Amino acid sequence: MRAERDSYFESTDRPGLARTTDRYQQALDRCIAKLRATMPIVGLRNPKIGRADLTWDYCGPFDWVVSFQSGQLWLALQLTGDPVFLNAARARRPVFRQILQNHHAKDHDLGFQFSLGCVADWLMTSSPEARELGLRAAEALLARFRQEGQYIQAWNPRPAHGGSRAVFVAGRVIADTMQNLALLHWAHRETGHVDFHAAAAAHAATTAQHLIRNDDTSYHTFVFDPASGDPIRGETHQGFAHESCWSRGQAWMIHGFAQCALSTGDEAALNVARRLAAKAEALMGRDQVPAWDYKLDDGSPAHRDSSAGAIMAAGVYIIASLTTGDEAAHWTAFGDRLLDGLLATCDLTTNPAALGLLNHGAANVRAGYADNMLPYGDYYFMEALMRSLGHTQFFW
Ligand code: GLY
Repeated sequence: MRAERDSYFESTDRPGLARTTDRYQQALDRCIAKLRATMPIVGLRNPKIGRADLTWDYCGPFDWVVSFQSGQLWLALQLTGDPVFLNAARARRPVFRQILQNHHAKDHDLGFQFSLGCVADWLMTSSPEARELGLRAAEALLARFRQEGQYIQAWNPRPAHGGSRAVFVAGRVIADTMQNLALLHWAHRETGHVDFHAAAAAHAATTAQHLIRNDDTSYHTFVFDPASGDPIRGETHQGFAHESCWSRGQAWMIHGFAQCALSTGDEAALNVARRLAAKAEALMGRDQVPAWDYKLDDGSPAHRDSSAGAIMAAGVYIIASLTTGDEAAHWTAFGDRLLDGLLATCDLTTNPAALGLLNHGAANVRAGYADNMLPYGDYYFMEALMRSLGHTQFFW
């Protein structure tokens, strides 16, 4: 068992991007100032989605987005050392205990929730309870692994907040889960139990095989026969169409595969991340902020998704840190282009009325949620800014 948090950071501390870019440092400073200024208003609530007046709607304890405010607070603590951020992040711990007490709340998003909620706490403060909560969440995520089909089951038949979902949830893999594998990699490093690593590697291989098309675009979801594990078909849930390419799904996978490569040294995962990022770059054309879906062809409004831009920027900076020479320079330039697009058209850090950092996210366009602040857009914006400046210590 690993005993000291500092040794974790040393062991994963590969060189980041060695440069200082004033506009990104200034933007990061404004993020910290915004977090500090909004803490008395946000309190212990956790943002879910922005309103038109740039205030937040807040989420309940079982929402997949529940940890993104925590993640920003832990990053702010790391950057400033100011205990005000520690207190605000730590005070959210009861939410994570609640998730583990509710069977219906435990789903494929445990990685998002506990990496940013509890692993961060453990790495920053060496709290044994935070470590314990993180490991219990990793066990619950591991329990979702299906030997037939070799994937981590997405979604539950009954959401924690009530109601039910159709039977189609069984046998379901979604792109977003790639971003949750980091919790398994952490648990493997932490305990030495190989099952964590094996499940993460198998899920990543299944995702690469079935969710990525031959042209390097991606399905949001894929359905398997739950009994046999046989692959059936690709579908979308939040994208424009089954055969289109939802930009946030592609971004989840770019970051997810890059993070797998960073955590494990797996060259195959790095190659997948490269392919997905190169395709997204090509599909963006001259855009600086991705459209919410890359294959809109019906003349419907081309909403942007700033969250896809922020997630992808953080992911391509990871790719840059794992490559060298002209290739690293290319990925760094692409990350800069994405960040510059966000700064030019979505940045709310200079707007005193805004509670969030980025505008123009697209939570779920077909369900009517577009053009909003999103807490995950904000978290990944901070992560991308930090990666652009060479920071290498995150909670994934
Ligand atoms: N994980 C759901 C989403 O990206 O909207």
